[in-house]
Amino acid sequence: MFFFNKKNKIQEDTINLDKKRIPKHIAIIMDGNGRWAKSKGLPRTMGHKAGVETIREIVKECNALGVKYLTLYAFSTENWKRPKDEIDALMNLLVTYLRQEFNELNKNNVVINNIGDITMLPKKCENELKDAYEKTKNNTGLILNLALNYGGRREIIDAINSALNEAKNNGVIKYSITEEDIEKHLYTKGMPDPDIIIRPSGEQRLSNFLLWQCAYSEFWYSDINWPDFKKKNLHKAIYDYQCRDRRFGGIK
Ligand code: FPP
Repeated sequence: MFFFNKKNKIQEDTINLDKKRIPKHIAIIMDGNGRWAKSKGLPRTMGHKAGVETIREIVKECNALGVKYLTLYAFSTENWKRPKDEIDALMNLLVTYLRQEFNELNKNNVVINNIGDITMLPKKCENELKDAYEKTKNNTGLILNLALNYGGRREIIDAINSALNEAKNNGVIKYSITEEDIEKHLYTKGMPDPDIIIRPSGEQRLSNFLLWQCAYSEFWYSDINWPDFKKKNLHKAIYDYQCRDRRFGGIK
């Protein structure tokens, strides 16, 4: 249960989540960093820096709630169109985040995974990500997927090409592709599809995120910019998710 106070704001202490129906996979489009910074007269990069604080809080909370997969859209295949100094700042933030948070994440049993083509990132990012994954891959808690140089269309094309190559290497001529072929070759192979996709900042679009996997995901939007997104907002998203009736095309 949750209630609204006189100003119609959620009272965070009163949200009672059903612990048995916590989503297995939450995916978040971390949007609104630039607008958050602008509203405070700060450079855009300060918005990204503040966004990293939100990442810390949300990762911790997802792990505590028993969410198994958290996928964060951190850099898309289209984000290369941004000014070089913003891209550099984002890459530096990534390295700092991984270095500063590694011990805490590892101690909390988190697997630091990534999806997307990280070979296109600066070498220091690629190396840091690979190292973090190698050192945490046997952890059994939350799997944190950082989507970096990620594009949903690219992922589907890569999956098809990878399925065709696999067949070729096995001496098989493949004339058609099945859903299973694609699923076996996605960056997210072996993971459940996201139960809920959260997008803060007031935008209501998918922006090339998890196009294949979102077929039956629940969408949840909020006007709050990512740096202002707190644990209570995550709880509200999960609460709303728990109130929805998921039929996957069937009937009840
Ligand atoms: C979208 O906001 C945000 C991004 C493109 C980058 C998100 C990255 C971080 C929060 C930090 C770096 C990542 C890690 C994993 C440490 P926007 O810039 O498009 O905001 P706007 O729409 O208000 O301009």
